[in-house]
Amino acid sequence: MKKWTVPAFAAEKGKSKLGCCTAYDACFAKLADEAGVPCILVGDSMGMVALGYGTTLPVTMDEMLSATAAVARAVKDALVVCDLPFGAYQCGDDAALANAIRALQAGSDAVKLEGGAFRAPLVQRLVENGIPVVAHVGLMPQSVNALGGFKMQGKTAAAATQLKNDVAALEAAGAFAVTLECVPDALAKEITETSAMSTIGIGAGPHCDVQWLVMHDLLGLNTGRVPSFARKFADLGTLARKGFADYVAAVASSAFPAERN
Ligand code: KIV
Repeated sequence: MKKWTVPAFAAEKGKSKLGCCTAYDACFAKLADEAGVPCILVGDSMGMVALGYGTTLPVTMDEMLSATAAVARAVKDALVVCDLPFGAYQCGDDAALANAIRALQAGSDAVKLEGGAFRAPLVQRLVENGIPVVAHVGLMPQSVNALGGFKMQGKTAAAATQLKNDVAALEAAGAFAVTLECVPDALAKEITETSAMSTIGIGAGPHCDVQWLVMHDLLGLNTGRVPSFARKFADLGTLARKGFADYVAAVASSAFPAERN
């Protein structure tokens, strides 16, 4: 395998479908990389699946940088994308550029940020400064309070038109890919067919160029609410619980440590 670059990733549009996922530490990033995952997102979903927060809102730039550096140290081939967390790009474009630079200095190849057409000037500024950008529209978890919950987006004709305009503006600004989170399949299909960017779906049906899944959902490690669009490809949660229980029982019965340990 050779290192996935942004141009190589973008060039796969229309050629092969890519299954990509999140990771937040060196251990799982190494396993995903060795398994051939083309792109690893250090997502701010880390706040919900690994840090115990109820939403992604409390996640800080420092937490994202620490996780990004750990993932980047472990990965040989996968493209690494750092999610800019809430607060890292809402307080002015100078601060946003500084945070995106920190993300690349921590080892990521690109950054991801949420928002539609109104974010296009920021996307253009980052791209002009050599920072590849993955956009993110549809359900934007950092706007959960404004959206009134984690709900499907783009369901009405007006909302679908708005979403398509947002994608066009982000593409014109230079984003190389766009995350479509929780939008209807037909809308994701139309955007995938009309946009030059790679569409990365999560809860957006089968037509997107790329899929994201949160690592904890796909490996059965999510101890909280699992979204209905996710699929468990392994049940590490059950294995881990059994491993912990067997260990506790072995110590209690003096079976561990044994002579060889
Ligand atoms: O933080 C995250 O995990 C995301 C998803 C879209 C994959 O943004």
